[in-house]
Amino acid sequence: MLDTSLIRNFAIIAHVDHGKSTLADRMLETTGMVTAGGHEDQLLDRNPISRERGITIKLAPVRMEYKGHMLNLIDTPGHVDFSYEVDRTLASVEGVILLVDATQGIQAQTIANAYKSIEKNLTIIPVINKIDLPNADVDKTEQQLVDFLGIEKTDIFRISAKTGMNVPELLDAIVSMIPPPAPTDDAALPQALIFDSYYDSHRGVIAFVRMFQGTLKKGTKVQMTANKVTFIVNEVGKFTPDLIPMSELTMGQIGYIVTNLKDIHQVEVGDTIVDEKGIEKAVAGYKKVKPMVYASMFPTDTNDYLNLKKALEKLSLNDSSVQYTATYSKALGAGFRVGFLGLLHADVVRERLEREFDLNLVLTPPKAEYVQDEMGYLEPFVKILIITPHDYLGAVMQLCEHYRARFQTMDNKNQISILYEIPLAEMISDFFDNLKSVTSGYASLDWEFLRYERVTADKLAILLNEEEIEEFSEIVVQERAQEKASKLVKSLREVIPRQQFEVKIQGRYKGKIIATERITPFRKDVTAKLYGGDRTRKDKLLDKQKEGKKRMKMIGQVEIPKESFVKLFKKGNS
Ligand code: GTP
Repeated sequence: MLDTSLIRNFAIIAHVDHGKSTLADRMLETTGMVTAGGHEDQLLDRNPISRERGITIKLAPVRMEYKGHMLNLIDTPGHVDFSYEVDRTLASVEGVILLVDATQGIQAQTIANAYKSIEKNLTIIPVINKIDLPNADVDKTEQQLVDFLGIEKTDIFRISAKTGMNVPELLDAIVSMIPPPAPTDDAALPQALIFDSYYDSHRGVIAFVRMFQGTLKKGTKVQMTANKVTFIVNEVGKFTPDLIPMSELTMGQIGYIVTNLKDIHQVEVGDTIVDEKGIEKAVAGYKKVKPMVYASMFPTDTNDYLNLKKALEKLSLNDSSVQYTATYSKALGAGFRVGFLGLLHADVVRERLEREFDLNLVLTPPKAEYVQDEMGYLEPFVKILIITPHDYLGAVMQLCEHYRARFQTMDNKNQISILYEIPLAEMISDFFDNLKSVTSGYASLDWEFLRYERVTADKLAILLNEEEIEEFSEIVVQERAQEKASKLVKSLREVIPRQQFEVKIQGRYKGKIIATERITPFRKDVTAKLYGGDRTRKDKLLDKQKEGKKRMKMIGQVEIPKESFVKLFKKGNS
């Protein structure tokens, strides 16, 4: 059995672009896992889209040998929609590196994740990065760390992940400061927390785990505590970051387990793998991850419906947080209603579908889901943490109030951190864009689901000549109904072409029409300018018009080109 006192498990917490991947690369070089210059930069960043967008959704885990110790680096997802994965990652380690870019200072996400690490009693190693840059403001960043997190100045590391400066010293600190996993009884039954997983078409689902006690090896019969699925361990191993098989995974280690299971939904992040009889307890903190926002997705070319279906099937093999059901829209044809963890997640999924499966998609603006019971509606609320420089405090507070946010607490240091509770529907509207704009881009935000609250709400139905268009109808709280209805009918008037009769666009709320716009008719005789004579030219024109009609979608009597919807959704109708 491996001596657990030699193991160090840690994660890196950083805001987007603060240098996490670069630091991981330097660590791999310093520990001799790879040779300098002999590999593609950002080795651990496997997702092609994330690389192109410059956002790492997640780095691959990696095990390094350093001065006789085993260092396991696992990553916290670097963006706000994945707070539960962050939580489970933090539950799998004993320490974190809190990495802050000296040219940017601390951001909301860094602080939120640092708070979570403090709650879990993890050792935090504060690190200021990019000190090689001329515009690095190391002293100010240092003061922020002191102010917000009560960190001692002398504990802060100053590094350049780019040049490698002070990276060996940081590795020494990981060994000396982060405690080894707490030892348990050698004879204890296995207990492994799943912090990530992916689907391999040959080997089935591969679970990434932290062993809390006992031993797992090929042939061990196990079950998962939350969903009770059982399987026989097919292989265990470590990350280099390639998957390298080992004879066993023992207490305190981080590694992978080949499950042979075919459905990633059976291997949930946060579930615990225990012995087959299930007599061991689960690692505390399991939660079923539910989508937070929903959008409908249609192929621009209706013939692509089956391709979209296949693409979604394939994508959900690997992204267990994507959920979808078939839907039908009179205007846009057959499509899917898809659930996402948040707006960025929705964006990444759409981009993957378009790029990896060569599809062209129309996506309705993502919406929060209200729950309806016999007493009315319940609205999802989230907790947000905003970090902003002093100068913008007034503007930020005013903005939050406008979006129905409720002030909770404020921490006033050389920057301000403010906690609010806000309806999810408001947060996913243009709130974030406006927050950026009133703070000249300086504010940052982190969010987390809070609870459902009873609200006065109802369906805002949008009617075209008395007929409801489902695509635009949504649940809206009473105080927003008028504003939304007026905005929506107005946008619709702008994008729907004139017809040969008058079109009335209305918003109906609680049985009353609360907004109306009209599109005046026109009579278009395409053959009018062809005097007499040439019959074939006339026929050709009429044929052309017919073809145009085929591309139109009928909503009752009204013809709407698909482009109108695309335009409207682009504008965002929230
Ligand atoms: P995400 O992948 O978006 O989460 O970002 P990340 O935190 O992984 O940052 P990444 O390592 O991709 O670094 C972002 C940019 O900063 C890249 O262009 C790096 O080359 C650069 N960078 C990282 N560390 C340093 C540093 O110490 N000095 C300088 N000058 N540039 C750095």
